[in-house]
Amino acid sequence: MTAQLNPRGDVAVLVPAAGAGVRLGPGRPKALRPLAGEPLLVHAVRRIAAAPSVRTIVVAAPAAEAAGAAALLAPITEVTVVVGGATRQESVAAALAAVPAGPEIILVHDAARALAPSALVESVAAAVRSGRDAVIPVLPVVDTVKQVTDGELVVGTVDRSALRAVQTPQGFRRAVLAAAHAEAVDPLTDDAGLVEKRGVPVHCVPGSEYALKITRPFDLALAEHLLGTAP
Ligand code: CTP
Ligand code: MG
Repeated sequence: MTAQLNPRGDVAVLVPAAGAGVRLGPGRPKALRPLAGEPLLVHAVRRIAAAPSVRTIVVAAPAAEAAGAAALLAPITEVTVVVGGATRQESVAAALAAVPAGPEIILVHDAARALAPSALVESVAAAVRSGRDAVIPVLPVVDTVKQVTDGELVVGTVDRSALRAVQTPQGFRRAVLAAAHAEAVDPLTDDAGLVEKRGVPVHCVPGSEYALKITRPFDLALAEHLLGTAP
């Protein structure tokens, strides 16, 4: 039976899922690839739907998969599926345009981060609710990071203590995200980047190891192993 989302929730979650998954190797679009027998998109949406603040979910799917994605998700939760664009940013914009009046907190969450816990959705939403305009989940960078030339010559070592690896869901006050997308020019790989460019402060909250982005075959194998212990 389809689970109903919380009608008193104040959060809409946009799920960009229209990418090809080139780095994962040949096959179907990444969001439709199986993780332990179920598409990544199903894992991701199930966790979003379990977060009590969520009132609306809008998925941006590849054009050829939109009807299929809607059919896959219908038994899990109420969801709107739109056709995504050629870039992630276009896919997010298409999903944003489909959010009905009501939710004043908008989260943007990659389908590729299929194991991101419901608790992370809640903590990002809570930080926006507490008055932040823009919130991102981050992890410390554990590797030493070098800056290099085109020819792979080391230019210098970056101070890692001031670096953070950024995840999704990223959360925004609705008007802030809408304004950033309305005036976006260059495509960026995340939404906080658009907001940042406009001078809006972006706040960090602790991310989760489980919110890893499934990008390469190794990540998919890792996610399969994590599934048993994932919250
Ligand atoms: N995405 C999207 N629309 C696009 C490109 C990406 O909705 N035109 C989504 C992906 O489906 C994914 C998220 O943005 O959930 C993060 O992108 P990424 O991990 O780069 O996924 P892909 O673009 O599918 O992978 P690749 O870059 O390897 O092709
Ligand atoms: Mg991509």
